[in-house]
Amino acid sequence: MNYIGSKLRLSDWIIETITEKYNKSNPSKPLSQTIFAELFAGTGIISRKLKPFVNQIIANDLEPYSYVLLKNYIENTKAIPNERIVFLIEELNSLSIKEQKDGFIYKNYCQGSGSKRLYFSDDNGKKIDVIRKKVEEWKLNNFVSQSEYFFLLASLLESADKIANTASVYGAFLKQLKKSAQKNLVFSPAHFPKPQNGHNQENQVFKEDANELIKKIKGDILYLDPPYNARQYGANYHLLNTIALYDNFEPKGKTGLREYERSKYCKKNEVETVFEELIKNADFEFIFLSYNNEGLMNLETIKRIMNKYGSYSLEKTEYQRFKADKDINREHKANATMEYLHILKR
Ligand SMILES: C[S@@+](CC[C@H](N)C(=O)[O-])C[C@H]1O[C@@H](n2cnc3c(N)ncnc32)[C@H](O)[C@@H]1O
Repeated sequence: MNYIGSKLRLSDWIIETITEKYNKSNPSKPLSQTIFAELFAGTGIISRKLKPFVNQIIANDLEPYSYVLLKNYIENTKAIPNERIVFLIEELNSLSIKEQKDGFIYKNYCQGSGSKRLYFSDDNGKKIDVIRKKVEEWKLNNFVSQSEYFFLLASLLESADKIANTASVYGAFLKQLKKSAQKNLVFSPAHFPKPQNGHNQENQVFKEDANELIKKIKGDILYLDPPYNARQYGANYHLLNTIALYDNFEPKGKTGLREYERSKYCKKNEVETVFEELIKNADFEFIFLSYNNEGLMNLETIKRIMNKYGSYSLEKTEYQRFKADKDINREHKANATMEYLHILKR
């Protein structure tokens, strides 16, 4: 998924740094015995990549779409047999959209319904509706297990995101259907990584404010990747929340926005206070924080705060950014920036 602040392309560097720092300081407790927590997990890419190597993962994000992804990628640990996956995916892909006129997505986010919003082609909006409804029905009938339910919802979110008619986020839709949005939705499986050697991992996934959750958990390694700027995720990904929740509400305005959570990490006058509170309450040996040099808090502020609670160090790497180009609907290389990993050892 093309996600604001995604650490996909930085994930190898982040994981190498975490592993190296942890191993150096803990020669007698291997990584495979640790509890790793990620509290601003988004797509969960860091936890996904560490999942095979640690004892337990605690993953959290404020947003419902992220919760669905994490329930699948992180909490699911036992393989769903391949024949079962093929069966479920084929069933959903073959559902007819002929009678689909009253689904929430088609009615509110496609133009054929008269909604004036063009987030999806008419057929794709109907397909999202028919699949979403069937997955819910299967859950209510116990036809799918809880892990299959989240596997299917995560698959739907990612498949729908691929054919959305946006420049990159859901804050606005494009006036004309772009090429990728003209393609038919293909419902594809969101395969999750498994723990190594059949290890019985009991991961936990939450949808809470990080500052609340931190008071209830403890572990060895904490990874934090809060928003850097004022862009609220709930507004930018509102449609993914709507597909995830599939509830009934009155979509607002031109873009059909729903009510959303406003993170204090996106507010200049609040971020320092909440960040310090989070660090103060963190019962973890190591804290790793991703935060670049263009964020609401500057490097000195972060250093000053983290320094109060243990020994602080900093790692950095140059990072080639990509930007969505609204005119040609393509990503292009933007200027290079520095990406930082702030490290605190208690
Ligand atoms: C920079 S993104 C994380 C990206 C993630 N590392 C990835 O690669 O996908 C920041 C995340 O923090 C979440 N968030 C913002 N405020 C939060 C809060 N107070 N508690 C928990 N999550 C929050 C957002 O929903 C968003 O997913």
